[in-house]
Amino acid sequence: MDDHGKLLTPEDFRKAAKRVLERSAYDYFASGADGQKLRKRNRKAWDAIEIRHRVLVDVSDVDTSTEVLGFKLPFPAMIAPMAYQRLARDAGELATVRAAFATHVPMIVSTMATVTLEAIAEATPAPKWFQLYCHRDRGITEDLIRRAEAAGYLALVVTVDAPVLGRRLADERNNFDLPEGMTRANLVRYVGAAPGGGPDEPGTVGGHAGPPLQGSELADLFRTRQDASLTWKDIDWFRSLTKLPIVLKGIVRGDDAKRAADAGCAGVIVSNHGGRQLDASIPSARALPEVVAAVDGHIPVLVDGGIEWGADILRSLALGAKAVLIGRPVLWGLAVAGEAGVRNVLEIYKEDFQRAMQLAGCASIADIDSDLLTIS
Ligand code: GLV
Repeated sequence: MDDHGKLLTPEDFRKAAKRVLERSAYDYFASGADGQKLRKRNRKAWDAIEIRHRVLVDVSDVDTSTEVLGFKLPFPAMIAPMAYQRLARDAGELATVRAAFATHVPMIVSTMATVTLEAIAEATPAPKWFQLYCHRDRGITEDLIRRAEAAGYLALVVTVDAPVLGRRLADERNNFDLPEGMTRANLVRYVGAAPGGGPDEPGTVGGHAGPPLQGSELADLFRTRQDASLTWKDIDWFRSLTKLPIVLKGIVRGDDAKRAADAGCAGVIVSNHGGRQLDASIPSARALPEVVAAVDGHIPVLVDGGIEWGADILRSLALGAKAVLIGRPVLWGLAVAGEAGVRNVLEIYKEDFQRAMQLAGCASIADIDSDLLTIS
């Protein structure tokens, strides 16, 4: 679709993407886990936060820029790590990273990318973070970290809310798998290229002989490869392996956030994986205050899940987050118009955030604080 200029909101992009995507790809990106209630509760929780806007503040010259872990952001947002982006558009992660470079919005590249982390790094000099899934085979995990370091990634985002994959019923019904010619590019050298197959024992994921494929191939990959035994001692292990700042993604409790800070992590991301893991989990907006209070300014807190409007970014910052991650809408932009679509989506968020700041009477990020929130 060329006329994406008429798409004004992330929701417009979602609808347009639904029209152009294969059903199974759309379902994979869009789905939540189980009854898919958390996706809606994520949204509702943002909507419930009311802003006491200030008036008669000079907002003719608003500065939306900020910094997280020394990274400059044109506005408080980054691109969330998301798997399998070539399902949205052939150029996949390469188009996303070009849009990241053009807009200066940093991208977090997924372990499950469909383009290698090296090729993504070579495509542009944009600053990037690498999202890590910990494999049972620690040699693979260590090698991924070494590759991310060598390719110039600047932080490691360890996803900690996925010891197993949440149940995505649509993927099971669709027998979701990567199409021929598309691979989990970072993992090919370890688990082979064939969808659902490993190099060591063909026909089984990652060479683990076992029951036949249950549900989607991704669920199977997790079952056979992902390390469900990961604990805090492994965070120490990661820290012993790398000097990269480590950010834990998937934290929703104050005690876990404090433990992350005590363990030397550089930041935490309040996240329920876009409602894709535990459907009964707490909405991000409701978890955020407890996490912010627990880390008490020692490390930055980021947040994702249902961020749809600039006002949601304002709400996040008023609750104490440093920045948000934007997830699915980036994929909708990618599906609709490749790099230009992603750029367009990011620009929509930035403009919407700037307007929300102006309407709330905030001329700079420092003006966004808990004083904007209703007193409960
Ligand atoms: C992978 O991380 C997914 O949520 O599908």
